[in-house]
Amino acid sequence: MGAGNEGAGEVVAAGESAAAQALLGRTVASFAGEMYAQFRCVPVAQCVPLPANVTPVQGASCFVNPMTVLGIVETARAEGHAALMHTAAASNLGQMLNRVCLEDRLDLVNIVRSDDQERLLRSQGARFVCNSAAPSFDESLSAAIAATNATIAFDAIGGGGLADRILAAMEAVQARKATGYSLYGTSTRKQLYIYGALDTSPTILRRNYGAAWGIAGWLLPQFMQRVGPETVARMQRRVMDGLLTTFASHYAEEISLADALDVGEIMRYAQRATNRKVLIDPQKSRD
Ligand SMILES: NC(=O)c1ccc[n+]([C@@H]2O[C@H](COP(=O)([O-])OP(=O)(O)OC[C@H]3O[C@@H](n4cnc5c(N)ncnc54)[C@H](OP(=O)(O)O)[C@@H]3O)[C@@H](O)[C@H]2O)c1
Repeated sequence: MGAGNEGAGEVVAAGESAAAQALLGRTVASFAGEMYAQFRCVPVAQCVPLPANVTPVQGASCFVNPMTVLGIVETARAEGHAALMHTAAASNLGQMLNRVCLEDRLDLVNIVRSDDQERLLRSQGARFVCNSAAPSFDESLSAAIAATNATIAFDAIGGGGLADRILAAMEAVQARKATGYSLYGTSTRKQLYIYGALDTSPTILRRNYGAAWGIAGWLLPQFMQRVGPETVARMQRRVMDGLLTTFASHYAEEISLADALDVGEIMRYAQRATNRKVLIDPQKSRD
Protein backbone atom coordinates (compact mmCIF):
# COMPACT_ATOMS: atom_id res chain seq x y z
CA MET A 1 0.00 0.00 0.00
CA GLY A 2 1.33 3.41 -0.95
CA ALA A 3 1.37 5.37 2.31
CA GLY A 4 1.35 9.03 3.27
CA ASN A 5 -1.65 11.32 2.82
CA GLU A 6 0.23 14.56 2.43
CA GLY A 7 3.65 16.08 1.98
CA ALA A 8 5.63 18.93 0.50
CA GLY A 9 8.76 19.35 -1.56
CA GLU A 10 10.50 21.13 -4.40
CA VAL A 11 9.34 20.60 -7.99
CA VAL A 12 12.36 19.13 -9.81
CA ALA A 13 10.61 18.11 -13.05
CA ALA A 14 7.36 19.18 -14.69
CA GLY A 15 5.13 18.37 -17.65
CA GLU A 16 4.83 20.57 -20.73
CA SER A 17 1.77 22.62 -19.76
CA ALA A 18 2.34 26.24 -18.79
CA ALA A 19 0.76 25.57 -15.37
CA ALA A 20 3.17 22.72 -14.70
CA GLN A 21 6.21 24.60 -16.00
CA ALA A 22 5.36 27.56 -13.75
CA LEU A 23 5.90 25.32 -10.74
CA LEU A 24 9.44 24.24 -11.64
CA GLY A 25 11.73 25.07 -8.73
CA ARG A 26 8.79 26.06 -6.49
CA THR A 27 8.02 24.43 -3.18
CA VAL A 28 4.59 22.83 -3.32
CA ALA A 29 2.40 20.75 -1.03
CA SER A 30 0.15 17.91 -2.12
CA PHE A 31 -2.60 15.78 -0.63
CA ALA A 32 -2.42 13.22 -3.46
CA GLY A 33 -1.62 10.17 -1.32
CA GLU A 34 1.42 7.87 -1.51
CA MET A 35 3.48 10.84 -0.35
CA TYR A 36 6.03 8.88 1.71
CA ALA A 37 8.49 8.84 -1.18
CA GLN A 38 11.60 10.65 -2.34
CA PHE A 39 9.97 11.58 -5.65
CA ARG A 40 6.28 11.76 -6.41
CA CYS A 41 4.56 12.54 -9.73
CA VAL A 42 1.20 14.28 -9.16
CA PRO A 43 -1.25 16.14 -11.43
CA VAL A 44 -0.60 19.87 -11.44
CA ALA A 45 -4.11 20.52 -10.10
CA GLN A 46 -3.17 18.61 -6.96
CA CYS A 47 -0.16 20.83 -6.21
CA VAL A 48 -0.53 23.88 -3.99
CA PRO A 49 2.38 26.32 -4.33
CA LEU A 50 3.59 27.36 -0.89
CA PRO A 51 4.42 30.99 -0.08
CA ALA A 52 8.06 31.88 -0.86
CA ASN A 53 9.16 31.89 2.79
CA VAL A 54 7.72 28.44 3.57
CA THR A 55 10.01 25.39 3.60
CA PRO A 56 8.89 21.83 2.72
CA VAL A 57 9.05 20.95 6.44
CA GLN A 58 6.74 23.85 7.31
CA GLY A 59 4.34 22.90 4.51
CA ALA A 60 4.41 19.13 5.03
CA SER A 61 1.17 19.00 7.07
CA CYS A 62 -0.75 21.86 5.53
CA PHE A 63 -3.80 19.88 4.39
CA VAL A 64 -5.16 17.21 6.69
CA ASN A 65 -5.18 18.80 10.15
CA PRO A 66 -5.62 22.46 9.07
CA MET A 67 -8.45 21.68 6.63
CA THR A 68 -10.11 19.37 9.17
CA VAL A 69 -10.04 22.14 11.76
CA LEU A 70 -11.67 24.56 9.32
CA GLY A 71 -14.09 21.84 8.21
CA ILE A 72 -15.14 21.29 11.81
CA VAL A 73 -15.82 25.00 12.28
CA GLU A 74 -17.67 25.22 8.93
CA THR A 75 -19.81 22.22 9.89
CA ALA A 76 -20.72 23.64 13.31
CA ARG A 77 -21.67 26.98 11.76
CA ALA A 78 -23.60 25.49 8.81
CA GLU A 79 -25.66 23.41 11.25
CA GLY A 80 -26.47 26.48 13.35
CA HIS A 81 -24.63 25.70 16.59
CA ALA A 82 -23.53 28.54 18.86
CA ALA A 83 -20.48 26.74 20.26
CA LEU A 84 -18.72 23.42 19.89
CA MET A 85 -17.00 20.72 21.92
CA HIS A 86 -13.91 18.71 21.07
CA THR A 87 -12.37 15.57 22.58
CA ALA A 88 -8.68 14.54 22.72
CA ALA A 89 -8.39 18.32 22.55
CA ALA A 90 -4.67 18.58 23.31
CA SER A 91 -3.87 16.83 20.01
CA ASN A 92 -1.99 18.69 17.28
CA LEU A 93 -5.38 19.23 15.62
CA GLY A 94 -6.98 20.27 18.91
CA GLN A 95 -4.39 22.96 19.59
CA MET A 96 -4.98 24.26 16.05
CA LEU A 97 -8.76 24.24 16.57
CA ASN A 98 -8.28 26.20 19.77
CA ARG A 99 -6.29 28.86 17.89
CA VAL A 100 -8.92 29.10 15.12
CA CYS A 101 -11.81 29.36 17.61
CA LEU A 102 -9.97 32.10 19.53
CA GLU A 103 -9.42 33.99 16.25
CA ASP A 104 -13.07 33.53 15.26
CA ARG A 105 -14.40 34.27 18.78
CA LEU A 106 -16.24 30.95 18.72
CA ASP A 107 -16.64 29.26 22.10
CA LEU A 108 -14.93 25.86 22.27
CA VAL A 109 -15.21 23.32 25.09
CA ASN A 110 -12.00 21.27 25.14
CA ILE A 111 -12.12 17.80 26.68
CA VAL A 112 -8.74 16.34 27.66
CA ARG A 113 -7.61 13.43 29.82
CA SER A 114 -4.85 14.82 32.06
CA ASP A 115 -3.86 17.86 34.13
CA ASP A 116 -0.85 18.44 31.84
CA GLN A 117 -3.12 18.63 28.80
CA GLU A 118 -5.43 21.04 30.64
CA ARG A 119 -2.44 23.27 31.53
CA LEU A 120 -1.18 23.11 27.93
CA LEU A 121 -4.45 24.33 26.44
CA ARG A 122 -5.04 26.97 29.11
CA SER A 123 -1.52 28.31 28.46
CA GLN A 124 -2.64 28.71 24.84
CA GLY A 125 -5.65 30.80 25.81
CA ALA A 126 -8.36 28.11 26.04
CA ARG A 127 -11.22 29.25 28.30
CA PHE A 128 -13.12 25.99 28.66
CA VAL A 129 -11.10 22.86 29.39
CA CYS A 130 -12.61 19.78 31.08
CA ASN A 131 -10.43 16.91 32.26
CA SER A 132 -12.20 13.55 31.89
CA ALA A 133 -9.81 12.00 34.45
CA ALA A 134 -10.84 14.47 37.18
CA PRO A 135 -13.54 13.49 39.74
CA SER A 136 -15.33 16.76 38.96
CA PHE A 137 -15.50 16.06 35.20
CA ASP A 138 -19.29 15.83 34.87
CA GLU A 139 -19.83 19.09 36.80
CA SER A 140 -17.15 20.96 34.85
CA LEU A 141 -18.60 19.65 31.58
CA SER A 142 -22.10 20.82 32.51
CA ALA A 143 -20.77 24.22 33.59
CA ALA A 144 -18.87 24.67 30.31
CA ILE A 145 -21.89 23.64 28.23
CA ALA A 146 -24.15 25.97 30.21
CA ALA A 147 -21.71 28.86 29.73
CA THR A 148 -21.32 28.31 25.98
CA ASN A 149 -24.60 26.66 24.92
CA ALA A 150 -22.58 24.08 22.94
CA THR A 151 -24.84 21.63 21.14
CA ILE A 152 -22.35 19.96 18.80
CA ALA A 153 -19.28 17.86 19.58
CA PHE A 154 -16.45 16.46 17.47
CA ASP A 155 -15.10 13.26 18.99
CA ALA A 156 -11.70 11.89 17.96
CA ILE A 157 -11.89 9.02 20.47
CA GLY A 158 -14.99 7.15 19.27
CA GLY A 159 -14.88 4.14 21.60
CA GLY A 160 -16.10 3.85 25.19
CA GLY A 161 -18.62 6.04 26.99
CA LEU A 162 -17.41 9.61 26.50
CA ALA A 163 -19.66 10.42 23.51
CA ASP A 164 -22.62 9.30 25.60
CA ARG A 165 -21.60 11.46 28.57
CA ILE A 166 -21.26 14.47 26.27
CA LEU A 167 -24.74 14.01 24.78
CA ALA A 168 -26.22 13.44 28.26
CA ALA A 169 -24.56 16.61 29.59
CA MET A 170 -25.84 18.65 26.62
CA GLU A 171 -29.38 17.38 27.18
CA ALA A 172 -29.23 18.00 30.96
CA VAL A 173 -28.22 21.62 30.36
CA GLN A 174 -31.01 22.12 27.81
CA ALA A 175 -33.54 20.44 30.15
CA ARG A 176 -32.74 22.97 32.87
CA LYS A 177 -33.93 25.71 30.51
CA ALA A 178 -37.08 23.89 29.35
CA THR A 179 -40.40 25.45 30.25
CA GLY A 180 -42.27 22.16 30.51
CA TYR A 181 -41.73 18.42 30.73
CA SER A 182 -41.66 16.14 27.69
CA LEU A 183 -41.35 12.39 27.75
CA TYR A 184 -39.12 12.71 24.68
CA GLY A 185 -36.63 15.16 26.16
CA THR A 186 -35.91 18.65 24.92
CA SER A 187 -36.39 19.61 21.29
CA THR A 188 -32.87 21.11 21.02
CA ARG A 189 -30.88 19.13 18.48
CA LYS A 190 -27.68 17.65 19.93
CA GLN A 191 -25.13 16.43 17.39
CA LEU A 192 -21.94 14.43 17.83
CA TYR A 193 -19.55 13.59 15.01
CA ILE A 194 -17.04 10.78 15.48
CA TYR A 195 -14.09 11.84 13.35
CA GLY A 196 -11.30 9.69 14.81
CA ALA A 197 -10.74 6.24 16.30
CA LEU A 198 -8.24 6.78 19.09
CA ASP A 199 -10.21 4.17 21.07
CA THR A 200 -11.29 1.29 18.83
CA SER A 201 -13.57 -0.35 21.41
CA PRO A 202 -17.38 -0.19 20.90
CA THR A 203 -19.15 3.12 21.38
CA ILE A 204 -21.47 2.74 24.37
CA LEU A 205 -24.73 4.66 24.22
CA ARG A 206 -27.24 4.68 27.09
CA ARG A 207 -29.56 7.02 25.14
CA ASN A 208 -30.73 9.00 28.16
CA TYR A 209 -30.91 12.23 26.19
CA GLY A 210 -34.36 12.23 24.65
CA ALA A 211 -34.96 11.99 20.93
CA ALA A 212 -33.33 15.09 19.39
CA TRP A 213 -29.81 13.80 18.91
CA GLY A 214 -27.61 12.42 16.19
CA ILE A 215 -24.29 10.66 15.85
CA ALA A 216 -22.47 10.38 12.53
CA GLY A 217 -19.04 9.88 11.08
CA TRP A 218 -17.06 12.85 9.75
CA LEU A 219 -14.20 12.65 7.24
CA LEU A 220 -12.34 15.51 5.56
CA PRO A 221 -12.44 14.28 1.91
CA GLN A 222 -16.19 13.64 2.16
CA PHE A 223 -16.71 17.07 3.70
CA MET A 224 -14.69 18.73 0.89
CA GLN A 225 -16.76 16.94 -1.70
CA ARG A 226 -19.96 18.06 0.01
CA VAL A 227 -19.10 21.77 0.30
CA GLY A 228 -17.55 22.08 -3.16
CA PRO A 229 -14.47 23.76 -4.66
CA GLU A 230 -15.27 27.38 -3.74
CA THR A 231 -15.47 26.70 -0.02
CA VAL A 232 -12.42 24.43 -0.20
CA ALA A 233 -10.43 27.18 -1.98
CA ARG A 234 -11.49 29.75 0.64
CA MET A 235 -10.40 27.42 3.43
CA GLN A 236 -7.12 26.70 1.66
CA ARG A 237 -6.36 30.44 1.33
CA ARG A 238 -6.86 30.86 5.06
CA VAL A 239 -4.50 27.96 5.76
CA MET A 240 -1.82 29.46 3.51
CA ASP A 241 -2.16 32.84 5.23
CA GLY A 242 -1.64 31.26 8.66
CA LEU A 243 0.69 28.40 7.78
CA LEU A 244 3.51 29.52 10.07
CA THR A 245 1.23 30.56 12.93
CA THR A 246 -2.37 29.34 13.39
CA PHE A 247 -1.92 26.22 11.26
CA ALA A 248 1.67 25.32 12.15
CA SER A 249 2.36 21.72 13.19
CA HIS A 250 5.18 20.86 15.56
CA TYR A 251 7.28 17.73 15.38
CA ALA A 252 9.08 16.02 18.23
CA GLU A 253 11.60 14.57 15.75
CA GLU A 254 12.40 13.84 12.11
CA ILE A 255 13.11 10.35 10.79
CA SER A 256 14.16 8.90 7.42
CA LEU A 257 12.04 6.75 5.11
CA ALA A 258 14.04 3.67 6.12
CA ASP A 259 13.47 4.48 9.81
CA ALA A 260 9.75 4.73 9.10
CA LEU A 261 9.75 0.99 8.31
CA ASP A 262 11.72 -0.02 11.38
CA VAL A 263 9.50 -1.92 13.83
CA GLY A 264 11.02 -0.21 16.88
CA GLU A 265 10.44 3.21 15.31
CA ILE A 266 6.88 2.26 14.33
CA MET A 267 6.10 1.28 17.93
CA ARG A 268 7.28 4.75 18.98
CA TYR A 269 5.74 6.99 16.32
CA ALA A 270 2.42 5.13 16.20
CA GLN A 271 1.70 6.18 19.80
CA ARG A 272 -0.43 9.22 18.89
CA ALA A 273 0.55 10.99 22.10
CA THR A 274 0.40 14.73 22.84
CA ASN A 275 3.11 16.78 21.12
CA ARG A 276 4.90 13.64 19.87
CA LYS A 277 4.35 14.00 16.11
CA VAL A 278 7.13 12.62 13.93
CA LEU A 279 8.02 14.06 10.52
CA ILE A 280 9.26 11.73 7.79
CA ASP A 281 12.02 13.40 5.77
CA PRO A 282 12.52 11.21 2.69
CA GLN A 283 15.82 12.93 1.87
CA LYS A 284 17.27 12.17 5.32
CA SER A 285 19.73 9.28 5.52
CA ARG A 286 19.21 6.61 8.14
CA ASP A 287 20.59 7.39 11.62
N1 LIG B 1 -11.85 12.54 10.17
C1 LIG B 1 -10.87 13.22 9.59
O1 LIG B 1 -11.00 13.65 8.44
C2 LIG B 1 -9.62 13.49 10.36
C3 LIG B 1 -8.65 14.34 9.82
C4 LIG B 1 -7.53 14.62 10.58
C5 LIG B 1 -7.34 14.04 11.82
N2 LIG B 1 -8.30 13.19 12.29
C6 LIG B 1 -8.16 12.59 13.63
O2 LIG B 1 -7.90 13.62 14.56
C7 LIG B 1 -7.33 13.06 15.72
C8 LIG B 1 -6.19 13.95 16.19
O3 LIG B 1 -5.15 13.92 15.26
P1 LIG B 1 -3.74 14.57 15.59
O4 LIG B 1 -2.87 14.28 14.44
O5 LIG B 1 -3.92 15.98 15.97
O6 LIG B 1 -3.31 13.69 16.87
P2 LIG B 1 -2.02 13.75 17.80
O7 LIG B 1 -1.36 15.07 17.73
O8 LIG B 1 -1.21 12.52 17.57
O9 LIG B 1 -2.69 13.65 19.27
C9 LIG B 1 -3.45 12.57 19.67
C10 LIG B 1 -4.10 12.98 21.00
O10 LIG B 1 -5.08 12.02 21.35
C11 LIG B 1 -4.91 11.65 22.72
N3 LIG B 1 -5.33 10.27 22.85
C12 LIG B 1 -4.76 9.16 22.29
N4 LIG B 1 -5.50 8.07 22.58
C13 LIG B 1 -6.54 8.49 23.34
C14 LIG B 1 -7.65 7.84 23.95
N5 LIG B 1 -7.84 6.50 23.84
N6 LIG B 1 -8.52 8.59 24.67
C15 LIG B 1 -8.35 9.92 24.80
N7 LIG B 1 -7.33 10.62 24.23
C16 LIG B 1 -6.44 9.89 23.51
C17 LIG B 1 -3.43 11.86 23.02
O11 LIG B 1 -3.30 12.12 24.39
P3 LIG B 1 -2.21 11.36 25.32
O12 LIG B 1 -0.92 12.16 25.19
O13 LIG B 1 -2.83 11.42 26.67
O14 LIG B 1 -2.06 9.96 24.78
C18 LIG B 1 -3.15 13.11 22.17
O15 LIG B 1 -3.47 14.30 22.87
C19 LIG B 1 -6.88 11.64 15.32
O16 LIG B 1 -7.80 10.74 15.88
C20 LIG B 1 -7.00 11.65 13.81
O17 LIG B 1 -7.28 10.37 13.28
C21 LIG B 1 -9.42 12.91 11.60
